[in-house]
Amino acid sequence: GNVTVLDHPLIQHKLTIMRNKETSIAGFRRLLREIAHLMCYEVTRDLKLELIDIETPMAPMKSPAIKGKKLVFASILRAGNGLLDGMLDLVPAARVAHIGMYRDHETLEPVEYYFKAPSSLEDRLIIVVDPMLATANSATVAVEKLKQVGATDIRFLCLLAAPEGVKHFTEVHPDVPVFTAAIDSHLNESGYIIPGLGDAGDRMYG
Ligand code: PRP
Repeated sequence: GNVTVLDHPLIQHKLTIMRNKETSIAGFRRLLREIAHLMCYEVTRDLKLELIDIETPMAPMKSPAIKGKKLVFASILRAGNGLLDGMLDLVPAARVAHIGMYRDHETLEPVEYYFKAPSSLEDRLIIVVDPMLATANSATVAVEKLKQVGATDIRFLCLLAAPEGVKHFTEVHPDVPVFTAAIDSHLNESGYIIPGLGDAGDRMYG
């Protein structure tokens, strides 16, 4: 499938600390932001450049800049905001979409409560962020909603994925590449990633 595991040693090391149940909320939040920097670097490494005219204090020159329109980061609330904060550290001019949804604990179906995206998503790269891809019900619906309002060039970035979620997501959205730091063993009956790291929203916000 269209899946990339980001195996940079710093990402893997930080993820191990985040999985550890002894890690505090403050530590978890800081690590997620740091990992977001490293993942943002990887997920943007193939962006196209163009030469623009500038003047240094010494001379005019043509110098590379990212080609095309500003990026859009789409955060699936709540936990997506942990990744979003770090992404915005590296790309401060990015536009941001917020997609509010939580999982019904019985059905595991996403319940939508908010959707706000910048206008003109056409011609922009949209990077959807959420730390967890479990059943992928949330991510699948989020991407569907972005497509409905014009998004065509989409990537999905998460920290942890279950094999079941990767399969489901890539079947529904084969045009959307998935980037993750790890693909874990399986989902349990409650839809939690095993071994995972617990509930990312709770570990970040309580
Ligand atoms: C978690 C996680 C994803 C979703 C993943 O959010 O952040 O959004 O579940 O599960 P899925 O792939 O099976 O849909 P949660 O519902 O706990 O909401 P929260 O982030 O607001 O705590």
